Amino acid sequence: MASRRALVLLAVVASLCRAAVGQRAKPLLPGGPSCSTADNYTDGSPYKKNLDELLAGLPAAAGGNGWFYNGTAGAPGTADQVFGLIMCYADRNATQCRECLAGAPAGITTACPGSRNVRAAYDACVLRYSPPPSFFSTADLAVNFQVRAIAFAVDPDKMLNAWLTLMTDLTGRAASSPSRVANATTPYDGDPAMLVYGLAQCTRDLNATECTRCLVSMVGQLRRRFTNETGGAIKA
Ligand SMILES: *[C@@H]1O[C@H](CO)[C@@H](O)[C@H](O)[C@H]1NC(C)=O
Ligand SMILES: *[C@@H]1O[C@H](CO)[C@@H](O)[C@H](O)[C@H]1NC(C)=O
Ligand SMILES: *[C@@H]1O[C@H](CO)[C@@H](O)[C@H](O)[C@H]1NC(C)=O
Ligand SMILES: *[C@@H]1O[C@H](CO)[C@@H](O)[C@H](O)[C@H]1NC(C)=O
Ligand SMILES: *[C@@H]1O[C@H](CO)[C@@H](O)[C@H](O)[C@H]1NC(C)=O
Ligand SMILES: *[C@@H]1O[C@H](CO)[C@@H](O)[C@H](O)[C@H]1NC(C)=O
Repeated sequence: MASRRALVLLAVVASLCRAAVGQRAKPLLPGGPSCSTADNYTDGSPYKKNLDELLAGLPAAAGGNGWFYNGTAGAPGTADQVFGLIMCYADRNATQCRECLAGAPAGITTACPGSRNVRAAYDACVLRYSPPPSFFSTADLAVNFQVRAIAFAVDPDKMLNAWLTLMTDLTGRAASSPSRVANATTPYDGDPAMLVYGLAQCTRDLNATECTRCLVSMVGQLRRRFTNETGGAIKA
């Protein structure tokens, strides 16, 4: 009798991305941050003050808002206004999420001291901030990092058959859900004892159209990025 095992295939997608692909063998490592290098802020500057204020409030704000928050600090319309967004990936549990929310702000200002425009994806959460113009509501299609898993041998064609339909279906469901997240399973090779699991997620600042645009782009890359894997994730 076939044992019950779940094949894992994840496409976790946010609006936050950077141009380079970072491939990480171990899922728990953070993706390499993208730090702007021009026009850095200095200690004591108004931008730094606004940034500190925003970052200090993000973890608690996201914790009380379903693991997502986008907000701003500083006088609207000024060059020193800061826009920030933080989100936990839905494939991580609450403990991992809290740890990531708590550690990400300090981690990113250590990794990118002085940068005004920063994007960083960790295993459990993603954080971005920038000066005006606001990046809210526009999908960013570059992939930040990907995770691959090879637990046992699969037939690539049968695996593809399973996840292609699954992830296409999840794209529509995530985009139309208020939480912008959806997950489901489908049998591998018609075997109900072997389920392929899928999850798709966008940041909640994206409307359904932008979320769909982002997920279609990510799902379109799965075939190229994953061949023999039993599982994998793209986090952007
Ligand atoms: C978060 O982003 C949405 C979508 O762009 C925007 O309407 C909203 O004002 C933002 N929230 C804050 C607190 O800035
Ligand atoms: C969260 O996930 C981690 C890693 O898989 C695990 O060690 C931990 O027990 C989980 N915590 C809860 C509360 O499920
Ligand atoms: C700005 O800060 C980044 C680190 O956040 C650093 O790599 C870069 O060299 C700095 N740029 C200048 C011009 O000092
Ligand atoms: C969705 O968001 C995009 C980007 O902000 C915007 O151009 C578009 O008009 C929005 N679509 C709808 C239906 O609101
Ligand atoms: C998957 O979806 C179910 C509802 O369909 C939900 O209860 C569950 O929390 C979701 N799991 C993840 C990891 O998002
Ligand atoms: C996938 O696995 C098969 C069988 O083990 C192997 O022949 C093939 O080279 C692998 N393809 C890739 C892209 O790793």
